[in-house]
Amino acid sequence: MSSISEKSMLPSRFLFGLIIVSLFVLIFSSLLLLQVSDNSFIPRSVFNLIPVNSTSINSKPNARSEQIKPLFISSEAPPEHTRRPMRSQEVAGRNSNSSNKLGAYKRRACDSNQALLRVYMYDLPPEFHFGLLGWKGSADRTWPDISNPSQIPPYPGGLNLQHSAEYWLVLDILLSDTPNVIRPCSAIRVHNSSQADIIFVPFFSSLSYNRHSKILEKEKVSFDKILQDKLVEFLMGRDEWRRLNGKDHLIVAHHPNSMLTARRKLGSAMFVLADFGRYPVEIANLQKDIIAPYKHVVRTVAASNSAPFEGRPIVVFFQGAIYRKDGGAIRQELYYLLKDEKDVHFAFGSVRDHGINHAGRGMASSKFCLNIAGDTPSSNRLFDAIASHCVPVIISDDIELPFEDILDYSEFCIFVRSSDAVKKDFLLNLLRGIKRDKWTKMWERLKQIVEHFEYRYPSRPSDAVNMIWEAISRKLSSIQFKEHRKNRYRRSQLKGETS
Ligand SMILES: *[C@@H]1O[C@H](CO)[C@@H](O)[C@H](O)[C@H]1NC(C)=O
Ligand SMILES: *[C@@H]1O[C@H](CO)[C@@H](O)[C@H](O)[C@H]1NC(C)=O
Ligand SMILES: *[C@@H]1O[C@H](CO)[C@@H](O)[C@H](O)[C@H]1NC(C)=O
Repeated sequence: MSSISEKSMLPSRFLFGLIIVSLFVLIFSSLLLLQVSDNSFIPRSVFNLIPVNSTSINSKPNARSEQIKPLFISSEAPPEHTRRPMRSQEVAGRNSNSSNKLGAYKRRACDSNQALLRVYMYDLPPEFHFGLLGWKGSADRTWPDISNPSQIPPYPGGLNLQHSAEYWLVLDILLSDTPNVIRPCSAIRVHNSSQADIIFVPFFSSLSYNRHSKILEKEKVSFDKILQDKLVEFLMGRDEWRRLNGKDHLIVAHHPNSMLTARRKLGSAMFVLADFGRYPVEIANLQKDIIAPYKHVVRTVAASNSAPFEGRPIVVFFQGAIYRKDGGAIRQELYYLLKDEKDVHFAFGSVRDHGINHAGRGMASSKFCLNIAGDTPSSNRLFDAIASHCVPVIISDDIELPFEDILDYSEFCIFVRSSDAVKKDFLLNLLRGIKRDKWTKMWERLKQIVEHFEYRYPSRPSDAVNMIWEAISRKLSSIQFKEHRKNRYRRSQLKGETS
């Protein structure tokens, strides 16, 4: 008897030990991930490449969402604790000895055969990109050493940040070229332009506009314009541009006023934009260009902290400049319709005046957040609402939305035509008529899709950076589709002539 019980004791003790050890590892790794503050805009987020369950983000049983390629090669995805690419200690530790650990990263690194998009990036001088952030290159460096997070120049905060797509995309391309890093295999840098799917023009055009568009005393033209002229001259001189007249070039011009002088000359390229409001249709259109989200400026509400229907006492929230030129007259009309209504927060003044945190708290306590056309069809407010899980109400007839080919915004936004919104009582009746169940469905969907609007470094599967790369890839294949159809008879006629 006793020998039998002893035999059975051994494996159960062993199992018990194993469980304790695994629990310890689990708790320890969760603690590491939790050490991160989520309002850091930059390299601190290097620390939190939390493995994302990408099926949950697109978990809706929707056939179209399967078009999103799995970004980790799933069978080869490294175990959770090795998936974080770099912690600062590890980066520092590269010189001391951790090569055995890094060896595992190397084997699984993304290569240009697996990547969705092969990107060739011009080595433009730093004055076009990180130099605008005060980074000084050196004779042998065009790019900062991004493997060391402390060397990455931070992007200025506040409202500049909303147009920072240019910065996150360039960082991601640079990271793809850094050995021993695991990141989503969507875009990868190649150094031979004839192997590239797309040629990236690394000009921080929005920052250049924000910082250097004023003509200073003694100057005849702004530094922003000088840079744009130089860029046009540079591109026109490149074989890469001439090959297809720039059609395979990607230019990020997210601020509506960026690239103001160069956009006509470079209009054949693919643009990454906030909207088409200030572009003539022959320069920018949905056939060739990509709409990218603004980077939201309020803090993302954690799904676990997100107030449900009952926890949001404000029914309708709007805060912004109320008098706008161009398309913005409707804000004023709505202001007079709504300002005295109960449970409505409709306030003057930009987010900046009231403080970003104040606006964030307001949105997180509101059921619906208005996104009304201003002087451009799009605004940061939509993305602030999404980050606050406040159901956006879009009153902007000409708005274009990011990734709308794979996202059905009607699942988490309410669309109201401007002509209806200004009818007395129309808006409030509509919104008050949306009851708990329907609202909760939209709120749940918001919590799933919010990841698509987060710009991150390093990027994570299905975040804004990777959604943009994927959108570019889809756009390229639709452009190619049209080209191939055009060739149908062109090619065979040529053949006929020669034979
Ligand atoms: C991912 O999320 C989906 C939906 O939320 C869930 O069904 C699935 O089990 C999750 N997978 C993993 C590996 O956590
Ligand atoms: C690091 O470890 C590898 C193998 O474990 C060894 O070959 C190498 O000499 C070590 N390097 C240093 C600097 O200790
Ligand atoms: C670039 O790639 C093309 C085609 O793959 C090849 O013919 C060419 O030699 C390459 N150029 C360089 C500099 O490696």
